[in-house]
Amino acid sequence: MENLEGKIILITGASSGIGEACAKKFAELKANLIITARRKERIEKLSNELSRKHNIKVLPISLDVRNFNSVKSFYENLAPEWKAIDILVNNAGLARGLDKFYEGKIEDWDEMIDTNIKGLLFVSRVVVPQMVEREYGHIINIGSTAGHEPYPMGNVYVATKFAVKALSQSFRIDVLEKGIKVTSVDPGMVETEFSKVRFHGDEQRAKRVYEGLQPLTPDDVADAVIFAATRPRHVNINQIVLTPLAQASSNFVYRKK
Ligand SMILES: NC(=O)c1ccc[n+]([C@@H]2O[C@H](COP(=O)([O-])OP(=O)(O)OC[C@H]3O[C@@H](n4cnc5c(N)ncnc54)[C@H](OP(=O)(O)O)[C@@H]3O)[C@@H](O)[C@H]2O)c1
Repeated sequence: MENLEGKIILITGASSGIGEACAKKFAELKANLIITARRKERIEKLSNELSRKHNIKVLPISLDVRNFNSVKSFYENLAPEWKAIDILVNNAGLARGLDKFYEGKIEDWDEMIDTNIKGLLFVSRVVVPQMVEREYGHIINIGSTAGHEPYPMGNVYVATKFAVKALSQSFRIDVLEKGIKVTSVDPGMVETEFSKVRFHGDEQRAKRVYEGLQPLTPDDVADAVIFAATRPRHVNINQIVLTPLAQASSNFVYRKK
């Protein structure tokens, strides 16, 4: 097992859900963390909690991954001891709306494409060159079962996660001779703020998404991330697909009445 003590882990979208759970699990393994998201108060609170509890260094930085200039200056302004990021967890992402494509909202499309595809690319573009230089590192992208099979009215979100899958596979090829690992962790239904965000704050509608089944927890997904991150040096986990027991794929879900 790879020892992560003292390694530097950058997690995007650490203010909630899967990203927050990943931060907690990497902290338990005594890694130092850079946690980013737009909601500063949340990541500052998490940073205080984790640094105290585990005696590690945690750097909370407010960052919107959609803006390349912000992403670039985020990295440029890191103190030298933080620049050698060992593991990048590209987690920041969202779904907005659930509409037929011919009724979809352009602003929802922009937000999903800008965050899930371009944000992931922007962060990778600024962080990975130092991995290439050191011939060491690991990129872990959070994809989705939506990136394996479309579901009704998922259209643009589905397309962004197909893109994440394509990028994970492409990254793997591009860094093959550089000693850098690339993993895609692709969950099915996870109960987080995801559906609340998708339905623009409608909590009742969000709750109904998980009715009649036991969804994955953010910890379940973080466990998969940690598994990939702790394999011995010569092992690359290319892809992990995990779903609730009651979910066979994007479209086959068993709900108890
Ligand atoms: N929940 C599921 O069922 C599910 C299934 C498969 C895949 N996923 C994927 O898992 C990832 C995490 O989602 P989650 O389920 O944990 O949802 P979540 O609880 O809503 O968390 C999403 C995180 O992304 C951050 N984020 C959103 N837009 C951002 C931006 N422009 N810049 C920086 N950070 C941004 C949010 O932080 P701020 O709002 O503070 O910026 C938040 O920390 C996403 O990529 C999602 O597509 C989720």
